[in-house]
Amino acid sequence: MDIKTYLKEKKELVDAFLKEYFSSLSSPKILGEAITYSLSAGGKRIRPILCIAAHEACNGNSEDIIKFASSIELIHTYSLIHDDLPAMDNDDLRRGKPTNHKVFGEGMAILAGDGLLTEAFYMMANSLSNKSIKNTALIRAIKEISFVSGIHGMVGGQAQDLLSEKSEPDAETLSFIHKHKTGALISGSLRAGAILANCTKHELGSITRYGENIGLAFQIVDDILDVEGDTDELGKTTGSDIRKNKMTYPAIYGLEESGRKAEELISEAIFAIKDFSNKAEPLRGIAGYFLKRRS
Ligand code: IPE
Ligand code: IPE
Ligand code: MG
Ligand code: MG
Ligand code: MG
Repeated sequence: MDIKTYLKEKKELVDAFLKEYFSSLSSPKILGEAITYSLSAGGKRIRPILCIAAHEACNGNSEDIIKFASSIELIHTYSLIHDDLPAMDNDDLRRGKPTNHKVFGEGMAILAGDGLLTEAFYMMANSLSNKSIKNTALIRAIKEISFVSGIHGMVGGQAQDLLSEKSEPDAETLSFIHKHKTGALISGSLRAGAILANCTKHELGSITRYGENIGLAFQIVDDILDVEGDTDELGKTTGSDIRKNKMTYPAIYGLEESGRKAEELISEAIFAIKDFSNKAEPLRGIAGYFLKRRS
Protein backbone atom coordinates (compact mmCIF):
# COMPACT_ATOMS: atom_id res chain seq x y z
CA MET A 1 0.00 0.00 0.00
CA ASP A 2 1.31 3.40 -1.02
CA ILE A 3 0.63 5.84 1.81
CA LYS A 4 0.90 8.91 -0.41
CA THR A 5 -1.92 7.59 -2.61
CA TYR A 6 -4.00 6.68 0.44
CA LEU A 7 -3.58 10.18 1.93
CA LYS A 8 -4.39 11.81 -1.40
CA GLU A 9 -7.53 9.74 -1.98
CA LYS A 10 -8.92 10.30 1.49
CA LYS A 11 -8.06 14.00 1.41
CA GLU A 12 -10.01 14.29 -1.85
CA LEU A 13 -13.05 12.65 -0.23
CA VAL A 14 -12.95 15.08 2.70
CA ASP A 15 -12.31 18.09 0.46
CA ALA A 16 -15.22 17.18 -1.81
CA PHE A 17 -17.54 16.69 1.15
CA LEU A 18 -16.59 20.04 2.70
CA LYS A 19 -16.90 21.89 -0.60
CA GLU A 20 -20.41 20.58 -1.12
CA TYR A 21 -21.42 21.15 2.51
CA PHE A 22 -20.42 24.82 2.44
CA SER A 23 -21.60 25.51 -1.13
CA SER A 24 -24.62 27.48 0.09
CA LEU A 25 -23.06 30.06 2.33
CA SER A 26 -24.57 31.31 5.53
CA SER A 27 -25.81 34.82 6.09
CA PRO A 28 -24.19 37.35 6.35
CA LYS A 29 -22.18 36.51 3.28
CA ILE A 30 -18.86 37.69 4.72
CA LEU A 31 -19.07 35.12 7.55
CA GLY A 32 -19.43 32.30 5.02
CA GLU A 33 -16.54 33.75 3.03
CA ALA A 34 -14.29 33.92 6.09
CA ILE A 35 -15.14 30.30 6.92
CA THR A 36 -14.55 28.91 3.44
CA TYR A 37 -11.40 31.02 3.02
CA SER A 38 -9.64 29.04 5.75
CA LEU A 39 -11.36 25.74 5.19
CA SER A 40 -10.52 25.58 1.49
CA ALA A 41 -6.99 26.96 1.82
CA GLY A 42 -5.43 23.51 1.70
CA GLY A 43 -4.44 21.59 4.76
CA LYS A 44 -3.52 17.96 4.99
CA ARG A 45 -6.86 16.80 6.50
CA ILE A 46 -4.84 14.48 8.70
CA ARG A 47 -7.36 14.28 11.55
CA PRO A 48 -10.34 13.22 9.38
CA ILE A 49 -8.05 10.78 7.58
CA LEU A 50 -6.94 9.25 10.89
CA CYS A 51 -10.57 8.92 11.94
CA ILE A 52 -11.33 7.08 8.70
CA ALA A 53 -8.19 4.92 8.90
CA ALA A 54 -9.00 3.83 12.47
CA HIS A 55 -12.57 3.05 11.39
CA GLU A 56 -11.23 0.86 8.56
CA ALA A 57 -8.66 -0.80 10.83
CA CYS A 58 -11.59 -1.89 13.04
CA ASN A 59 -13.43 -3.30 10.01
CA GLY A 60 -15.64 -0.29 9.41
CA ASN A 61 -16.59 1.09 6.01
CA SER A 62 -15.09 4.54 5.36
CA GLU A 63 -18.13 5.73 3.39
CA ASP A 64 -20.22 5.59 6.56
CA ILE A 65 -18.22 8.21 8.38
CA ILE A 66 -17.11 10.81 5.82
CA LYS A 67 -19.43 13.42 7.33
CA PHE A 68 -18.39 12.70 10.90
CA ALA A 69 -14.69 12.64 9.98
CA SER A 70 -14.97 15.88 7.98
CA SER A 71 -16.55 17.66 10.93
CA ILE A 72 -13.28 17.20 12.83
CA GLU A 73 -11.57 19.35 10.20
CA LEU A 74 -13.92 22.20 11.14
CA ILE A 75 -12.71 22.01 14.73
CA HIS A 76 -9.08 21.88 13.62
CA THR A 77 -9.52 24.82 11.24
CA TYR A 78 -11.21 26.91 13.94
CA SER A 79 -8.26 26.17 16.23
CA LEU A 80 -5.82 27.41 13.58
CA ILE A 81 -7.76 30.64 12.93
CA HIS A 82 -7.81 31.44 16.65
CA ASP A 83 -4.20 30.25 17.16
CA ASP A 84 -3.03 32.81 14.57
CA LEU A 85 -4.82 35.80 16.15
CA PRO A 86 -2.68 38.68 17.46
CA ALA A 87 -3.72 37.81 21.02
CA MET A 88 -2.36 34.29 20.52
CA ASP A 89 0.53 33.47 18.14
CA ASN A 90 0.12 36.60 16.00
CA ASP A 91 0.97 34.90 12.71
CA ASP A 92 0.48 36.29 9.20
CA LEU A 93 0.65 33.17 7.04
CA ARG A 94 -1.40 29.98 7.22
CA ARG A 95 -1.80 27.24 4.63
CA GLY A 96 0.20 29.43 2.25
CA LYS A 97 -2.20 32.38 2.49
CA PRO A 98 -2.57 35.45 4.71
CA THR A 99 -4.15 34.44 8.02
CA ASN A 100 -7.91 34.83 8.43
CA HIS A 101 -7.75 37.97 10.59
CA LYS A 102 -5.38 39.64 8.09
CA VAL A 103 -8.07 39.35 5.43
CA PHE A 104 -11.34 39.59 7.35
CA GLY A 105 -10.32 41.42 10.53
CA GLU A 106 -10.08 40.06 14.05
CA GLY A 107 -13.77 40.20 14.86
CA MET A 108 -14.82 38.19 11.81
CA ALA A 109 -11.92 35.74 12.31
CA ILE A 110 -13.08 35.06 15.87
CA LEU A 111 -16.64 34.54 14.64
CA ALA A 112 -15.53 32.31 11.75
CA GLY A 113 -13.78 30.15 14.36
CA ASP A 114 -16.82 30.15 16.64
CA GLY A 115 -19.02 29.22 13.70
CA LEU A 116 -16.77 26.37 12.60
CA LEU A 117 -16.58 24.92 16.10
CA THR A 118 -20.33 24.98 16.59
CA GLU A 119 -21.15 23.71 13.11
CA ALA A 120 -18.83 20.75 13.66
CA PHE A 121 -21.07 19.42 16.43
CA TYR A 122 -24.22 20.12 14.41
CA MET A 123 -22.67 18.10 11.59
CA MET A 124 -21.68 15.24 13.89
CA ALA A 125 -25.14 15.05 15.39
CA ASN A 126 -26.54 14.84 11.85
CA SER A 127 -24.06 12.32 10.58
CA LEU A 128 -26.06 9.12 10.84
CA SER A 129 -26.21 8.44 7.12
CA ASN A 130 -25.88 4.71 7.41
CA LYS A 131 -27.74 2.27 9.61
CA SER A 132 -24.54 0.37 10.37
CA ILE A 133 -23.69 3.13 12.83
CA LYS A 134 -25.62 2.92 16.05
CA ASN A 135 -26.93 5.93 17.97
CA THR A 136 -25.08 4.86 21.09
CA ALA A 137 -21.78 4.69 19.21
CA LEU A 138 -22.42 8.11 17.66
CA ILE A 139 -23.07 9.66 21.06
CA ARG A 140 -19.88 8.10 22.43
CA ALA A 141 -17.92 9.43 19.47
CA ILE A 142 -19.34 12.95 19.89
CA LYS A 143 -18.51 12.78 23.59
CA GLU A 144 -14.96 11.81 22.66
CA ILE A 145 -14.47 14.74 20.26
CA SER A 146 -16.00 17.27 22.66
CA PHE A 147 -13.73 16.03 25.45
CA VAL A 148 -10.50 16.27 23.47
CA SER A 149 -11.34 19.61 21.82
CA GLY A 150 -12.19 21.59 24.92
CA ILE A 151 -10.86 22.33 28.37
CA HIS A 152 -9.77 18.72 28.92
CA GLY A 153 -7.77 18.71 25.69
CA MET A 154 -6.90 21.25 23.04
CA VAL A 155 -8.19 24.40 24.74
CA GLY A 156 -6.43 23.42 27.95
CA GLY A 157 -3.19 22.86 26.05
CA GLN A 158 -3.50 26.16 24.21
CA ALA A 159 -4.05 27.96 27.52
CA GLN A 160 -0.90 26.43 28.99
CA ASP A 161 0.97 27.20 25.76
CA LEU A 162 0.10 30.90 26.15
CA LEU A 163 0.91 30.98 29.86
CA SER A 164 4.26 29.30 29.30
CA GLU A 165 5.56 32.02 26.96
CA LYS A 166 6.47 33.84 30.16
CA SER A 167 8.09 31.02 32.10
CA GLU A 168 11.32 29.05 32.07
CA PRO A 169 11.01 25.86 30.00
CA ASP A 170 10.47 22.63 31.87
CA ALA A 171 9.95 19.14 30.48
CA GLU A 172 6.76 18.32 32.35
CA THR A 173 4.90 21.46 31.30
CA LEU A 174 6.11 21.02 27.73
CA SER A 175 4.78 17.48 27.61
CA PHE A 176 1.43 18.66 29.01
CA ILE A 177 1.17 21.40 26.37
CA HIS A 178 1.90 19.15 23.42
CA LYS A 179 -0.24 16.23 24.54
CA HIS A 180 -3.19 18.55 25.11
CA LYS A 181 -2.98 21.17 22.38
CA THR A 182 -2.26 18.69 19.59
CA GLY A 183 -2.11 15.08 20.80
CA ALA A 184 -5.64 15.08 22.23
CA LEU A 185 -7.51 15.87 19.00
CA ILE A 186 -5.33 13.49 17.00
CA SER A 187 -5.88 10.66 19.41
CA GLY A 188 -9.57 11.55 19.83
CA SER A 189 -10.11 11.49 16.05
CA LEU A 190 -8.70 7.97 15.93
CA ARG A 191 -10.71 6.81 18.93
CA ALA A 192 -13.93 8.23 17.49
CA GLY A 193 -13.32 6.36 14.22
CA ALA A 194 -12.74 3.13 16.12
CA ILE A 195 -15.79 3.64 18.37
CA LEU A 196 -18.00 4.21 15.31
CA ALA A 197 -16.85 0.81 14.00
CA ASN A 198 -17.98 -0.85 17.25
CA CYS A 199 -14.40 -1.82 18.06
CA THR A 200 -13.49 -4.06 20.98
CA LYS A 201 -12.01 -2.72 24.21
CA HIS A 202 -8.66 -4.20 23.28
CA GLU A 203 -8.74 -2.51 19.87
CA LEU A 204 -9.66 0.82 21.45
CA GLY A 205 -6.78 0.51 23.89
CA SER A 206 -4.33 -0.14 21.08
CA ILE A 207 -5.68 2.70 18.93
CA THR A 208 -5.43 5.01 21.95
CA ARG A 209 -1.76 4.15 22.54
CA TYR A 210 -1.06 4.57 18.83
CA GLY A 211 -2.84 7.95 18.88
CA GLU A 212 -1.11 9.30 21.97
CA ASN A 213 2.29 8.45 20.51
CA ILE A 214 1.73 9.82 17.01
CA GLY A 215 -0.07 12.85 18.47
CA LEU A 216 2.93 13.91 20.52
CA ALA A 217 5.30 13.07 17.66
CA PHE A 218 3.22 15.25 15.32
CA GLN A 219 3.72 18.34 17.49
CA ILE A 220 7.43 17.62 18.03
CA VAL A 221 7.86 17.52 14.25
CA ASP A 222 5.80 20.73 13.98
CA ASP A 223 8.26 22.36 16.42
CA ILE A 224 11.24 21.05 14.42
CA LEU A 225 9.78 22.33 11.15
CA ASP A 226 9.26 25.74 12.75
CA VAL A 227 13.05 25.87 13.16
CA GLU A 228 14.39 24.15 10.08
CA GLY A 229 11.45 23.94 7.69
CA ASP A 230 10.84 26.00 4.59
CA THR A 231 8.18 28.72 4.76
CA ASP A 232 6.96 28.07 1.20
CA GLU A 233 6.69 24.33 1.70
CA LEU A 234 5.19 24.70 5.16
CA GLY A 235 2.69 27.42 4.25
CA LYS A 236 3.43 29.21 7.52
CA THR A 237 6.25 31.52 8.60
CA THR A 238 9.13 29.68 10.24
CA GLY A 239 10.74 31.05 13.40
CA SER A 240 7.36 31.86 14.92
CA ASP A 241 8.06 29.87 18.10
CA ILE A 242 11.36 31.57 18.89
CA ARG A 243 9.82 35.00 18.31
CA LYS A 244 7.08 34.20 20.82
CA ASN A 245 9.39 32.45 23.30
CA LYS A 246 7.30 29.27 23.00
CA MET A 247 8.03 26.19 25.04
CA THR A 248 9.02 23.69 22.35
CA TYR A 249 10.94 20.41 22.04
CA PRO A 250 13.89 21.99 20.17
CA ALA A 251 14.05 24.75 22.83
CA ILE A 252 14.45 22.20 25.62
CA TYR A 253 16.12 19.20 23.97
CA GLY A 254 17.74 20.60 20.83
CA LEU A 255 16.90 19.57 17.27
CA GLU A 256 18.71 16.24 17.17
CA GLU A 257 17.32 14.88 20.43
CA SER A 258 13.83 16.12 19.46
CA GLY A 259 14.08 14.16 16.21
CA ARG A 260 15.12 11.05 18.14
CA LYS A 261 12.19 11.43 20.51
CA ALA A 262 9.79 11.70 17.58
CA GLU A 263 11.28 8.53 16.05
CA GLU A 264 10.88 6.61 19.31
CA LEU A 265 7.26 7.69 19.64
CA ILE A 266 6.52 6.59 16.08
CA SER A 267 8.06 3.14 16.73
CA GLU A 268 5.95 2.87 19.91
CA ALA A 269 2.86 3.80 17.92
CA ILE A 270 3.46 1.14 15.28
CA PHE A 271 4.12 -1.43 18.01
CA ALA A 272 0.84 -0.52 19.74
CA ILE A 273 -1.18 -1.72 16.73
CA LYS A 274 0.83 -4.89 16.06
CA ASP A 275 -2.24 -7.13 16.62
CA PHE A 276 -4.22 -5.51 13.83
CA SER A 277 -4.59 -7.07 10.37
CA ASN A 278 -3.41 -5.50 7.15
CA LYS A 279 -6.46 -3.23 7.39
CA ALA A 280 -4.26 -1.16 9.71
CA GLU A 281 -1.56 -0.69 7.05
CA PRO A 282 -2.69 2.91 6.42
CA LEU A 283 -2.21 3.66 10.15
CA ARG A 284 1.30 2.20 9.98
CA GLY A 285 2.03 4.20 6.84
CA ILE A 286 0.72 7.44 8.34
CA ALA A 287 2.97 6.96 11.37
CA GLY A 288 6.01 6.73 9.08
CA TYR A 289 4.85 9.73 7.06
CA PHE A 290 4.65 11.84 10.23
CA LEU A 291 8.43 11.64 10.56
CA LYS A 292 9.16 12.52 6.95
CA ARG A 293 6.68 15.29 6.37
CA ARG A 294 7.97 18.69 5.32
CA SER A 295 4.61 20.48 5.46
C1 IPE B 1 -1.01 22.47 12.44
O1 IPE B 1 -1.70 21.32 12.07
C2 IPE B 1 -1.26 22.79 13.86
C3 IPE B 1 -0.81 21.76 14.80
C4 IPE B 1 -1.60 21.23 15.65
C5 IPE B 1 0.58 21.34 14.79
P1 IPE B 1 -1.51 20.65 10.65
O2 IPE B 1 -0.04 20.49 10.36
O3 IPE B 1 -2.34 19.43 10.58
O4 IPE B 1 -2.07 21.78 9.68
P2 IPE B 1 -2.85 21.68 8.28
O5 IPE B 1 -4.26 21.34 8.60
O6 IPE B 1 -2.21 20.65 7.42
O7 IPE B 1 -2.76 23.07 7.71
C1 IPE C 1 -1.01 24.84 17.54
O1 IPE C 1 0.33 24.69 17.82
C2 IPE C 1 -1.86 23.85 18.09
C3 IPE C 1 -3.27 24.15 17.85
C4 IPE C 1 -4.16 23.64 18.62
C5 IPE C 1 -3.75 25.03 16.79
P1 IPE C 1 1.22 25.73 16.99
O2 IPE C 1 0.89 27.12 17.38
O3 IPE C 1 2.62 25.28 17.04
O4 IPE C 1 0.66 25.45 15.51
P2 IPE C 1 1.15 26.24 14.22
O5 IPE C 1 2.64 26.01 14.12
O6 IPE C 1 0.80 27.68 14.41
O7 IPE C 1 0.41 25.58 13.09
MG1 MG D 1 0.09 28.11 19.03
MG1 MG E 1 0.71 28.82 16.06
MG1 MG F 1 3.96 25.27 15.41
